[in-house]
Amino acid sequence: MNNFEILHKDLMGRIGKLRTTHGYIETPTIMPVINPNLVTIAAADMKNYGAEMLITNAYIIYRKPNLREEALTNGVHSLLGTDMPIMTDSGSYQLYEYKDVEVSNKEILEFQQNIGSDVCVPLDIPTPPYWKRKRVKDDLEVTLSRLQEARNLMPANAQDNMLAGVVQGSTFVDLREESARRAAEIGFDLYAVGGVVPLLESHGFDKLVDIIVAAKKNLPLNAPVHLFGAGHPMLFPLAVALGCDLFDSAAYALFAKDKRYLTSDGTKKLEKLRVLPCSCPVCSTYSVAELKESKDLLAAHNLWVTFEEMRMVKQSIAEGSLWELCERRCRAYPSLVDALKRMTNYSALIEKYDSATKRPFFYLSEFSAHRPEVLRYSNRLNRFDISGRVLITTKEECEEEGYDHIFLVKPPFGPYPVELNESYPVGQSEIPVAIDNEAKTVALQNVLKLLAMNKGKAKFVFRYDSTWEGHPLLEEISMYADVRQKIC
Ligand code: GUN
Ligand code: ZN
Repeated sequence: MNNFEILHKDLMGRIGKLRTTHGYIETPTIMPVINPNLVTIAAADMKNYGAEMLITNAYIIYRKPNLREEALTNGVHSLLGTDMPIMTDSGSYQLYEYKDVEVSNKEILEFQQNIGSDVCVPLDIPTPPYWKRKRVKDDLEVTLSRLQEARNLMPANAQDNMLAGVVQGSTFVDLREESARRAAEIGFDLYAVGGVVPLLESHGFDKLVDIIVAAKKNLPLNAPVHLFGAGHPMLFPLAVALGCDLFDSAAYALFAKDKRYLTSDGTKKLEKLRVLPCSCPVCSTYSVAELKESKDLLAAHNLWVTFEEMRMVKQSIAEGSLWELCERRCRAYPSLVDALKRMTNYSALIEKYDSATKRPFFYLSEFSAHRPEVLRYSNRLNRFDISGRVLITTKEECEEEGYDHIFLVKPPFGPYPVELNESYPVGQSEIPVAIDNEAKTVALQNVLKLLAMNKGKAKFVFRYDSTWEGHPLLEEISMYADVRQKIC
């Protein structure tokens, strides 16, 4: 039986409904991390911020006798004081950080089942970025054998707990692909991309894009995907656009401990703040000075903005504007600009997932030139079967008599028949008057494509206005068409 229903889609992102033993939740969502030893904001209060599901660490509970007894007797929900669904992590991260985890895969899985976890996680081995390939591959084999052992212990459909298949493989794209493919063959209720925390810390977001895509391409589309350790709101639009549905955040508390104030486009040092540029209940009630005195207040603000951004992501999916949100957010930080650029490498893949009709888009930066809609338009240029005398012009003005067809050029799409002036997406998408060079280049590449496809069948005249003067592709176009600058 499938626990996950997809309600809306945009790019590779989706709004989904996930069934757990503690009720339905809507994704994308962020699971605040509750450390039972060190509670900043109580699990019971998390609903107020918008949390629908929590995550805690089964190994931390397991190794502390009083917590362990309480969890085994009354369940993890009673231990944390909530009836919200709870995912439990296995201690893999402790294994990675401190090397000494004294529990087996089987023991920690049985423990997670016994304390009534909604989503159990096997004891995978997180391999950090840029390790030697042999080491990564060897660790991946251990992870995969533990995933198989987990599935054998918890056969599909035989119990209430869901089971997560963790994807490792460090920064090797092919190993990430293999890891995802083999996890998918075993079959899990949801999948989790692991081993990325060091990349997040070093802002290696472009590499993160490769890793997420490698995993997503090989995972079932109808299963939720969790991105382990990604709790900073500035990353949500991009990660959701690439198909991540679940996130966990210890960031709200960790950043607060360091006196850092989260915003959807980066982190600010509290000591540098003159005002609180946010309207959450904390920031509209307290002053900068009061926040400096209380890490709990700061953690609360951090959590408010985290959920606010996730709601913004959801709204963007519903209205089909997630690409615009990615462009706006990724402009806030150079390593996110790199990540956005990397995402455009995957436009062809994203185009396959993206809905074919949605609202017209707004051109916001040169990255808009590589939107899936633009690529789709380019792929469909072969639908224009043209012959006779054809004018392709960047400006609809004078001297347009005596042609069998007139095409206008609109950056970044390129040529379109004048009759499609009002139609989606070319006619309706809004572009700035002072359009950038990237949009012009893509447009002219599509002109060239149209010319090459109809070579010999039609006689082309290409006319451009002064804003296109000097573009290097004009020369190439002149091999197929009579190219002239417009004078009128
Ligand atoms: N938390 C952060 N990264 C990881 C990971 O790679 N595996 C697991 N199980 N938990 C994590
Ligand atoms: Zn605030």
